[in-house]
Amino acid sequence: MAERTLCIIKPDAVERNLTGAVLKMVQESGLKVVGIKMLQMSEQQAGGFYAVHKARPFFEDLCRFMCSGPIVVAVLEADNAVKRYRDLMGATNPANAAEGTIRKAYAQNIERNSVHGSDSLENAAIEIAYFFSNLELVG
Ligand code: PPS
Repeated sequence: MAERTLCIIKPDAVERNLTGAVLKMVQESGLKVVGIKMLQMSEQQAGGFYAVHKARPFFEDLCRFMCSGPIVVAVLEADNAVKRYRDLMGATNPANAAEGTIRKAYAQNIERNSVHGSDSLENAAIEIAYFFSNLELVG
């Protein structure tokens, strides 16, 4: 079934001019980009986006990093898009990421891990609505 998921190209990847390289891997895997923009989050916006992780020890570091520079947010569409994109990203810690994944290719460490992807269809809908209105999505 066709699904939509949220992709974020994180500050470490945007800063190293890897936006095109990441999107190439995404598109070559068959995931279709149906919305995209570049922005820089405020600390408040990052805190809202990662609210589910508020109790985790890395929460403040994660929010500070995610608003440290521009990010690219994109909505990806395909059959089983949530799992397909999670598989393409690879493990959260790049030390454990498999060959052929985005994080294996580009991530620097567990914080500067280049990409985010929604972890469920339910969260994908919430995360897409955090950044995009329906008018900004095609198809
Ligand atoms: S996941 O992908 O949600 O299952 O991974 P999880 O381990 O639950 O991590 C949630 C997000 O926190 C980021 N993370 C960290 N940031 C900074 N420092 C440390 N130590 C750290 N550990 C995990 C991880 O990259 C996830 O961010 P997103 O943006 O969701 O990928």
